[in-house]
Amino acid sequence: MAKRVLVTAALPYANGSIHLGHMLEAVQTDVYVRARKMAGEDVIFAWADDTHGSPIQIRAQKEGIEPETLIERAREEHIRDYQDFGIGFDIFHSTHSEENRKHASAIFEAMEKRGDIICREIEQYWGVEDGMFLADRFIKGTCPFCKTPDQYGDGCESCGRTYRPTELIDARSALSGGALELRKSEHLFVPLGRHQEFLEGWVREKAVLPEATRGYLETWMQEGLKDWDISREAPYFGFEIPGHPGKYFYVWFDAPIGYISATDKLCAETGRDFDAYWKSTPADTEIVHVIGKDIVYFHCLFWPAMLEASGYTPPSRVQVHGWLQVNGEKMSKSKGTFILARTYLDHLEPDYLRYYLAAKLGKGQDDFDLSFEDFVGRVNGDLVNKLANLASRTIKFLHGKLDGTVAALDEAGELLLARARERLAEVPALYADFESARALRVAQEIAEEVNGYVTEKAPWKLAKSDPEQAKAIVSAGVQATKIVAAILKPVLPAWAEKVERMLKLEAPLSFANAVEPVPVGTEIGEYETLADRVDPKKFEAIVEASKADMAEAQGDGGDDGEAASYDYEVEALAEEVSIDAFGGIDLRVAEVVACAPVEGARKLLQLTLDVGPLGRRNVFSGISKSYAPEELVGKKVVLFANLAPRKMRFGLSEGMVLAAGASDDAVTVLELDPRAKPGEKIT
Ligand code: MSP
Ligand code: ZN
Repeated sequence: MAKRVLVTAALPYANGSIHLGHMLEAVQTDVYVRARKMAGEDVIFAWADDTHGSPIQIRAQKEGIEPETLIERAREEHIRDYQDFGIGFDIFHSTHSEENRKHASAIFEAMEKRGDIICREIEQYWGVEDGMFLADRFIKGTCPFCKTPDQYGDGCESCGRTYRPTELIDARSALSGGALELRKSEHLFVPLGRHQEFLEGWVREKAVLPEATRGYLETWMQEGLKDWDISREAPYFGFEIPGHPGKYFYVWFDAPIGYISATDKLCAETGRDFDAYWKSTPADTEIVHVIGKDIVYFHCLFWPAMLEASGYTPPSRVQVHGWLQVNGEKMSKSKGTFILARTYLDHLEPDYLRYYLAAKLGKGQDDFDLSFEDFVGRVNGDLVNKLANLASRTIKFLHGKLDGTVAALDEAGELLLARARERLAEVPALYADFESARALRVAQEIAEEVNGYVTEKAPWKLAKSDPEQAKAIVSAGVQATKIVAAILKPVLPAWAEKVERMLKLEAPLSFANAVEPVPVGTEIGEYETLADRVDPKKFEAIVEASKADMAEAQGDGGDDGEAASYDYEVEALAEEVSIDAFGGIDLRVAEVVACAPVEGARKLLQLTLDVGPLGRRNVFSGISKSYAPEELVGKKVVLFANLAPRKMRFGLSEGMVLAAGASDDAVTVLELDPRAKPGEKIT
């Protein structure tokens, strides 16, 4: 066992809100930290926001505020979101801090002294209207390979190929749409190749890494490590590089240094020894990073090389998790499955999500599917019906129908509990290996067995005739409840606290004291609800609210590739009116029963509409460039029914069909749910 353990999760970007993908990582880290603390280890969880870089600077500019204001607001919001999910970090610092400036400078200077920084001139796009060098993400143009227009400077979303922004056809600024100019500037690079041998050794022997991650790293190293560009030109929101005026650290240089600065700040606040963490031998201190699979290159190649080159301690373990998906698909803003942590909290208990994530997470880096159906099934089926039920049926019965005191178990009960205690012994090691799903399986199996025993012995039939025997039976449930609560505690701390109260435990539950039985004769307290069933409808509300969130959010660059900026324009919103203005317009459901082109008219289609009890209408509509006539037949559409009829060259038009879209060839007709009945009024 190491003398001390430092755990970190990746530092979320300050320009976006925390979403359920972030929560997966936060819960995985939190459960790990809590479990190791519960095992009696000296563990700290140091965390921060990642606050530098162009996207943050540009977002602040758009909002008309200083980047400092933006990152302070984000930090407060992030802390609140994580705390409301019960994430027990020991510190949540910022990469825009004095500690981080100090360590970034120290690391850079140490590397420079050792020849680990080289200077080279590069040519890069300058945005003429933007007045700055543009990162690849802020350049757009036509893909040189497949010719798809509107692709970013680093790769094509259509054909998947990567290229340099200078290879794009018709490249322009994605920010202003303005022209670009190639300009020369000097950049600082870390020659990673110099660290190849160290990195190979670290990957092979020193670090604990998931198998898949090790595989990737080995391929990357075989391909050869390229020099890493760590400087950016002003204007850039970050730290100026000491000795290189006008040059700033690239955000990914000082971001992981945030782990060090957060530790430093925490040590200063709590009287811990900073050097014991980052200037120690790995035998004394474990440094564990939890990250997603998209940032492996940074954490397993750049980062250990930086640490080694500057005399800090490299990490001992990097835990890599997969991508959170929702209902088997990538989180999608338009489908409402890009769910913010806050939106979830507005509708559902944080503990359900903590349980669901922990119950499916292991140390592998496969993607994680958050399926609404599975979520409801596991919460209602496992958490409520098995785990909570064990406690509720036995504690309620003992407290309400018997004398409320714990009795000695019968032989079968003793045997069951002995087995449960044996199984409990496996749990700390599972958690300490990020195998929370397997740890929770143990709790479930114990609950299943003891529930089975109680059901079979039916103590409620004995309450009158043999209360002593009834007490012995339900006491097995009470004893098992203690063990189960200890196993659940890293995931559901509030649950464990309730059990501590109900069973009148003298000390907070730990893995060590969980094996001690509740003493015979203890008078237990009243049952407190441990978990309620989840209502599946809540997910519909979450999806609806998430759609609204995304309509509201601008430019947080979420990771499903749907940028929040629009590549089309819409008309400005009309002046505000009262509901009366709507009352004058009579809209009705109409079914298209026939549709034909109109000879001699370029844009028109002639529609025959069935308006139910209101009869049939003939309507001309200027949509022929967007629809073939047969496409519309059978559709339920919206008719402006009290519009004065208009005599046209081709006949009388008796109303108007509602449609969206600005140009003739991009019109979409408003379509109703097929259940709508022709003639029904739309209000
Ligand atoms: N700021 C960098 C990390 C710097 S660490 C020195 C960053 N930030 S992030 O906000 O984009 O992501 C933070 C963490 O959340 C990363 O580990 C990332 O993999 C994880 N996730 C972001 N979206 C995710 C999912 N949809 N699913 C699972 N994890 C996801 O990267
Ligand atoms: Zn392409």
